[in-house]
Parts: sequence; C-alpha cells; structure tokens
Amino acid sequence: MSAAMKLDAGAPMVELRGISRRFEKKLDFAGKIAKRLGAPVREEVVHAVDKVDLTIRKGEVVGLVGESGCGKSTLGRMVAGILPPSDGVIMRNGTDILSRSSAAAREMKLRTQMIFQDPYASLNPRMRVADIVGEAPLVHGIVSRSGYDAYVDEQMRRAGLDPAFKRRYPHQFSGGQRQRIGIARALAVKPDFIVCDEAVAALDVSIQAQILNLFIRLRTELDLTYLFISHDLGVVEHISDRVVIMYLGRVVEEAPSETVFAQPNHPYTQSLLASVPRIESRKRAFSVVKGEIPSPLNPPSGCHFHPRCPHAMERCKVEVPVLREVAPGQRSACHLNDQA
Ligand SMILES: Nc1ncnc2c1ncn2[C@@H]1O[C@H](COP(=O)(O)OP(=O)(O)OP(=O)(O)O)[C@@H](O)[C@H]1O
Ligand code: SF4
Ligand SMILES: [Mg+2]
Repeated sequence: MSAAMKLDAGAPMVELRGISRRFEKKLDFAGKIAKRLGAPVREEVVHAVDKVDLTIRKGEVVGLVGESGCGKSTLGRMVAGILPPSDGVIMRNGTDILSRSSAAAREMKLRTQMIFQDPYASLNPRMRVADIVGEAPLVHGIVSRSGYDAYVDEQMRRAGLDPAFKRRYPHQFSGGQRQRIGIARALAVKPDFIVCDEAVAALDVSIQAQILNLFIRLRTELDLTYLFISHDLGVVEHISDRVVIMYLGRVVEEAPSETVFAQPNHPYTQSLLASVPRIESRKRAFSVVKGEIPSPLNPPSGCHFHPRCPHAMERCKVEVPVLREVAPGQRSACHLNDQA
C-alpha cells in the first residue's frame, strides 16, 4: 500500500451534520373543509429524520438498524443524494454536496450508488440485462461503444452472472440473480460508496448468504464503503464494522459491531438484543420490543423511547438525551449515563 493510500484509509467519506427530513402530511378533504370552517386543524408533519450526525469512514461497513418507520430509508436516500434534507449538511470527501455546482454534485451522485430491497421493481422489465448494466456507463462516458460488450461482460462476471445470458430480460432470472443484476448495474458506474437498503431482505436465507458474501468480496476487491440498512440484526452483525441504531428519527446508539452485541448501552438496543433468540440467529427481528412503536407524527417528548423504557425517569419525559461517548468508539443517548 502506498503512503498516500495509507493516509486516505479511514478518512471521512460521508459526514452528516444535523441532518433532518420532515414530510408534510397533507390535509384530506374533511380536514380541508374543517379548516375552512375555522377548526384548528393543521397539516401534520412527520419528523422522519431528526438532527442526525453521522460519519462514515473510507472502507467502513456501517450497519443502520431500527424498527420499521424509524427513518432508515429516508436517511439512506439523503446520503445517496436522491432526497434533499430539510436541514443540515452532507459532506462527501470533505465537500458540501448540497452546495456544489451541478456538475460536481452529479459526479458525487454517480460515485454513490444505492441497492434496493426489490430489484425487480428497480429493473426496467423491457430492457435486456446488457443494457440495464451498460447504459449508464455509456451515457457517462465511462466506457466507449467499442469497449461496451467486454465491459458489460466484466461487470456481469464480477457480480456472479454468466455473460452468456446478457440478452435476457429481468423476469428470466431468479430473485438472487436479479439482485446480482442490480449490483452489476450499480458497480458499472464505478462508485466508491454503496447504500444498501434491505438489499437481501426479500431473498431466501441461503441466497441471502450468497449475496452477503458477494458484498463482502466486492468490498475488498473494489475498495468500497457501505451503509448497510437492515431490520435484521443477524445480517448487520455479519457484515458491519460499526452499527448505528435509530429510534423514531434519531440515532440512539452507535458503536463497533462487537461492542453493540456484547455490551449494548442504550435500553432500546438492549431490548432489541433481548428479543434475539440465542441459537437461531436467523430470526433476529425487532418485533418483540415491548409496547407499540409511537407515531412519528406525534413522537413522545424528551427521550422518544420513554413510554417503552423499563428504566424511564421523570427527566426522560422532558429532556432529550444527547448522544455522547460512553466508551471508546461507543456513543449512546441515555440519561442513565449521567448517573454513573
Ligand atoms: N415520501 C414520504 N412522504 C411522507 N412520509 C414519508 C415519506 N417517506 C417516508 N415517510 C415517513 O417517514 C417515516 C420514516 O420512513 P422510512 O421509510 O425512512 O422508515 P424505515 O426505517 O426505512 O422503515 P422500514 O423498515 O419499514 O423500511 C415514516 O413515518 C414514513 O411514513
Ligand atoms: S433516557 Fe430515559 S427513557 Fe430514554 S432510554 Fe435512557 S432511561 Fe430510558
Ligand atoms: Mg425502509
């Protein structure tokens, strides 16, 4: 490894500072009438992501977990540059991507690719695999017409697909193969950062393992950095160097993967892990945390987790806990840490 590469290793690739995203829930017909008649109704606002700070370093795999609706996909889409934040700054390799010239912003977008849960929905059913994989690199001048065929073959092979099938359509492939097409398409534009949003969630368990292994191999082969979003703790544990836990739009804990699983600090993380069956690790889902997930339209005051937290105190209902370091590399947002 050269000295320059060594210096670069671990440098911040993505930095989120105070990132929030709100969605306005428009009034329905009855609401509009009521408002016109003078009733105190307002459009409701969902705080999908609320003041998140997060740094992802070059070469890292960061797992992002939390129950359904906590804002994982919204955060992932903002990081990937396909959804603008309501507030905050997104730095990519040291530059603010939201205030860059459009050419530079386009380059950053291209270098960040997103892989989704349902490849079938994101692959054009009327396009042949060769075109699905090769179109963007051709448009962006990454490959010339004369090198096109060889380039597509190389991308397909790298994702574990036989180039002999490149004239086929997406429906002629299995679910796992379709995810490989999605991966080949994403990698064909030479990204250095990939956001995977539930990228293996729709696949059978045996296929999941194959695709996860492909992600792991590609990481080394292509020097990739990942934000790996999953509701499945088993998947996250398997692939991530660091884990970030979200609850109702906020990060409540982040730590190296082994620390999160061995010494979780936040009561929410502890509840998630308590619900994990010890032996059958494939069943690591979230549904068993006690109590309903509150609505993000009207989240609880103070610490959002207080109605479900077994340790909740009076203070928790009024004061938002700040995310702070509780051990080297481990940050948690819980008032219990002030009592030690
Ligand atoms: N385009 C949108 N318009 C309105 N509300 C939205 C929109 N996108 C997301 N939301 C809301 O924002 C909140 C966070 O949604 P998001 O999809 O980011 O959650 P998630 O953690 O990815 O959930 P899941 O695990 O189910 O995929 C939810 O309350 C959701 O209803
Ligand atoms: S701040 Fe309070 S309610 Fe929130 S997790 Fe900690 S103890 Fe529980
Ligand atoms: Mg999602």
